[in-house]
Amino acid sequence: MAPYPFSRSHDPFVDLSSQDAFNEGAPFATFDRMRRDDPLAWSEMEGGGQGFWNVVRHGDLLELNRQPDLLSSASGIRMEDQSAEEYEARKTFQETDPPQHRAFRALVSKAFSRATMAGYEEQIRAIVTRLLDDALEAGEFDATDAIARHLPMQMLAQIIGVPNDDAAWLVEKGDALISNADPDYTDFVIDKVDTDEYRMLPFRSPAAVELFDYANRLLARIDAGEQIGVLNLVLEETSHGTAMSRDEFRNFFCLLVAAGNDTTRYSISATIHALANDPALLAQIQAPAFDQWDEATDEMIRWAAPTSHFRRTATRDFELHGKTVRAGDKVVMWFLSGNRDEAAIPDPYRIDLTRPRNPFLSFGQGGPHICLGMWLAKLEVKIVLQELARRVKRIEQTAEHRYLRSNFIHGIKTLPVRVERK
Ligand code: HEM
Repeated sequence: MAPYPFSRSHDPFVDLSSQDAFNEGAPFATFDRMRRDDPLAWSEMEGGGQGFWNVVRHGDLLELNRQPDLLSSASGIRMEDQSAEEYEARKTFQETDPPQHRAFRALVSKAFSRATMAGYEEQIRAIVTRLLDDALEAGEFDATDAIARHLPMQMLAQIIGVPNDDAAWLVEKGDALISNADPDYTDFVIDKVDTDEYRMLPFRSPAAVELFDYANRLLARIDAGEQIGVLNLVLEETSHGTAMSRDEFRNFFCLLVAAGNDTTRYSISATIHALANDPALLAQIQAPAFDQWDEATDEMIRWAAPTSHFRRTATRDFELHGKTVRAGDKVVMWFLSGNRDEAAIPDPYRIDLTRPRNPFLSFGQGGPHICLGMWLAKLEVKIVLQELARRVKRIEQTAEHRYLRSNFIHGIKTLPVRVERK
């Protein structure tokens, strides 16, 4: 087996600030070296700007993620520098710290809870079944495009209360936002084109202008007294939270469209890639006695590690691994690296669908910002696994897959497969 399955990158010294660092898959060799020899390395920013510290060990990620008073989200969560003015214009509750964060999160946490999401199981299964039936009819298809790309937004559209017919448009705009470093998804590639004109917009992307217009139309309907899904919740004053302002609402809408779009997609494409390349995995989930769907789901989302990192900013000086992090320094939390840390996850380069204890970090576990959409994403991935197991005899990859150009979101953007149905 290749030393880093699910990656063609074997360079132990890539520049992690570079969008190209993940072009051939995650640079696992670099993270292995850093976890072993240099667990708090300093990186300069490609093209200038303030450099950053890299947190790469599972234990450090968990420990530091629990301390928002030490490592704040309130000065930006992306690696790139933002001025105070840009940060203020683009802010969502993801860029706040407790207690303010708690109040915002309380507005929506019940709407995305495990119990609430369980109520969507039938709708998710209906979407998955339709997508799979269409794809299997074709026999040969691109698995990311045919299956993984459409499910998350079609489901999110139902939850936030927008028409299913708008889902494809929202996918396209969501891609332009969050895949802003990949020329396949935007003409405004963040590190190649001057995006200064859009610096006040989410992801410095002109797609946000169109999404703001769309959000304004939703606001007008809510103002007119319509109930259109969970979005109503964030505008209502409650006893335990503060309603969002209209600016915050527009940014929150963009956050949902970005966050709810491609992370689940790349968990699904990683899953199909794994099933195509290791027939034993498909056989395992097809065994009549197999019922560890929750474990299998967590393992596939660990394996996929779709969000490589989130950034924090130190609020005061502190020491770690013999180095001094100064107040104001940027600290990048590489959750992806934590997902391959042998100190916490035995044999991390092997997929173990029945891993008994899986302390994976794909959702930012341990911190107050732990993914809002976690239960939705898990349910979607689980149902894809179950329906693939039910319908498919054999999956085979027919040509090389391609990775997203991004050091922020990690995933397979094209995955040509041939599938034989049962
Ligand atoms: C497998 C799929 C997903 C992965 C791996 C993922 C990953 C993450 C991570 C790592 C964070 C923490 C960010 C931080 O620590 O700063 C996060 C937060 C968040 N995610 Fe997800 N996500 C996924 C799916 C979704 C979906 C489907 C939605 C939409 C409903 C969503 C919405 C959010 C939101 C709104 C936050 C911010 C929460 C907060 O700041 O309190 N995510 N996600």
